[in-house]
Formats: sequence, structure tokens, C-alpha cells
Amino acid sequence: MNSISSPRISAVLDDLHRRAQADIGVFLRALPSVAAGLVSGRSLMEAAKPHLRNAFIPIDAAQGQAIYQLARTRGARRIVEFGTSFGISTLYLAAAVRDNGGGRVITTELEPLKIEKAVANFRRAGLEAEIELRPGDALQTLRDLEGPIDLLFLDGWKEACLPVLTLLEDRLAPGACVLCDDMRAFRKTLKPYVDHVRGQPGRYASLELPLGDGLEFTVVV
Ligand SMILES: C[S@@+](CC[C@H](N)C(=O)[O-])C[C@H]1O[C@@H](n2cnc3c(N)ncnc32)[C@H](O)[C@@H]1O
Repeated sequence: MNSISSPRISAVLDDLHRRAQADIGVFLRALPSVAAGLVSGRSLMEAAKPHLRNAFIPIDAAQGQAIYQLARTRGARRIVEFGTSFGISTLYLAAAVRDNGGGRVITTELEPLKIEKAVANFRRAGLEAEIELRPGDALQTLRDLEGPIDLLFLDGWKEACLPVLTLLEDRLAPGACVLCDDMRAFRKTLKPYVDHVRGQPGRYASLELPLGDGLEFTVVV
């Protein structure tokens, strides 16, 4: 069984990846005010954030295939995602949960407009039963989450990836997999994260996979 190649789910994924190409226009339109923000001393992320409300900024299709396969390898039935956006990565993970025999992807997103669009995309793909979307700030919405977690995908704003991992790490199952995206673009911001997962060899094994913008792949040992 490989649900991501089913006609219904692959059609939705192809459509969303195609529509995400419009992000380039969002970034180009944002350039002048991001530059002004940088000059006035704001960080790149702070200056860019207001313009990202309508941007997909998703994983690419190869990363989607990889997270699907990793979730299948692990037999993951309980997956947590930080950063839903329009739901592209969530769909790959939910398809894996379904193909593993059923379970739940708990995902969380701040932006109301994105939440609305993501929910519609989950319905279009017929994967809404496998997904629980928690609206709000991950550090609040994931606080009371029950473990054990088989796979954790960190793809929200980068300064929060380490706080979200530390919030959840006691609930990670032995052998669980943790993935964190955008290692190359946010090398400096993510340095404390990388130090955390690579600096505890008794707890984690970790390396960066050359997928998309760099995907840190960590296993709970
Ligand atoms: C890179 S996008 C996620 C892309 C998505 N994983 C995909 O591949 O389709 C990051 C998303 O994280 C959301 N986000 C950032 N910080 C958050 C937080 N503290 N809590 C919940 N969502 C957050 C942003 O609003 C944004 O939509």
C-alpha cells in the first residue's frame, strides 16, 4: 500500500506543490520592506514574517517522499508536526500513518488563514480522519500532548525548533525519528538545535540529509 501514489492524494499533492511555486512572487514583493526592516536592525525572520502569512514555504516533493518513507520504516502511528502551513507535509505524514495501519498526525499552526486552507486540503485528499490540527502556538498547543511519539517533524519558525523538541523529548518513543527542515538557510539560528541533537550521543544519533534545504535526521537511541 502506498497512498501517496493513489489518484486522489497524488492529485492534491501535485496541485499544492504547483501552487506553492507562486511563493517566489510573495518573496519578490516582500524584498523592499524586508530590506528596510534589516536596515532598521530587525532580524531577517522578523522582517520577513508579516509577508509569509500567505506563503506555502513547503517541503519539496522529494522531501515529502522521504518523510513518507521514514514514517513507513518506523511503522509510525503517532506523528507530531510543528508548522502545518497549507498542509503539504502533513498529507505525506498522514498517508504514512494510514498505510501503517492507522493512527494520528497532530499538527499545529499559528495563522488562521492557513488553518482554514489546510483543513480544506485534508478533506480534498480524504485524510482528515488521520489528522488533528491544533490552532495556535506550538509551545502551548503541544504542551499536554500524550506520547509515545514515533516521529516528530519540526518545520515552524526556526528559533522555536529547539524549544519544541525540548518540550516533547521525554515523550519520544525509543527509536523515534526527529526531522528538522531548512538546516542550510538557517544554519546560525539552528546551531543550538544541532548542538543539542549531536552533542548527546547517548541519547540521539543525528546527521543532515541533503534533501531540500537540508533535513536534520535524528534517531532516539
Ligand atoms: C515552513 S512553514 C511549514 C510548511 C509545512 N510544513 C509544509 O511543508 O507544507 C512554517 C509554518 O509554521 C508556522 N509556525 C511558525 N511558528 C509557529 C508556532 N510557534 N506555532 C505554530 N505554528 C507556527 C508558520 O505560520 C508557518 O505556516
